[in-house]
Amino acid sequence: MADKIRVLLKEEEVNARISEIAAQVSRDYEGKCVHLICILKGGVFFTCELAKRLTVPVTLDFMSVSSYGSGTVSSGVVKIVKDLDEPLENKDVLIVEDIIDSGRTLAYLIEVLKQRNPASIRLCTLLDKPERRVKKQVSVDYTCFTIPDEFVVGYGLDYDQKYRNLPYIGVIEQ
Ligand code: IMP
Ligand code: MG
Repeated sequence: MADKIRVLLKEEEVNARISEIAAQVSRDYEGKCVHLICILKGGVFFTCELAKRLTVPVTLDFMSVSSYGSGTVSSGVVKIVKDLDEPLENKDVLIVEDIIDSGRTLAYLIEVLKQRNPASIRLCTLLDKPERRVKKQVSVDYTCFTIPDEFVVGYGLDYDQKYRNLPYIGVIEQ
């Protein structure tokens, strides 16, 4: 049976907020080239929408890490499934994530990427669920939306690999 999905953030709302964040990023990186690291697969829709709206030069790379099994509960295990193609030496890196939940994925990733000597490293997320944070040291530089502790899908986010393609952010009704 098809899942019933309640809309939490409409497509227009999400896009308007991404435009605001893009303007802020463009101001902050004035005179620089921003190296976006898209965290696959969830970050892909947000990365595209953000990148299109940036007015500073942009380069892009992709990384895939896993911290979840097929359900909705964190396994606590972070693994690099696909590494970056390019070195990070002297680059102004902006990590682009779909959602920060426990913070385990990002806490690990930031440590790994820092060792590759980027000029700077910042974090940009579409959604943040601060109530669920386990790794308190993860500081987010750009957040589009802070949301309550609910499992969300759409705009890149999945439930068992489904619903990434929804143009809005929704909650699966039980
Ligand atoms: P963290 O390591 O607990 O911060 O988990 C981050 C990753 O878990 C995200 O990149 C998502 O892939 C996944 N995740 C966390 N919360 C949700 C959710 O509400 N919906 C879909 N995926 C989620
Ligand atoms: Mg993800």
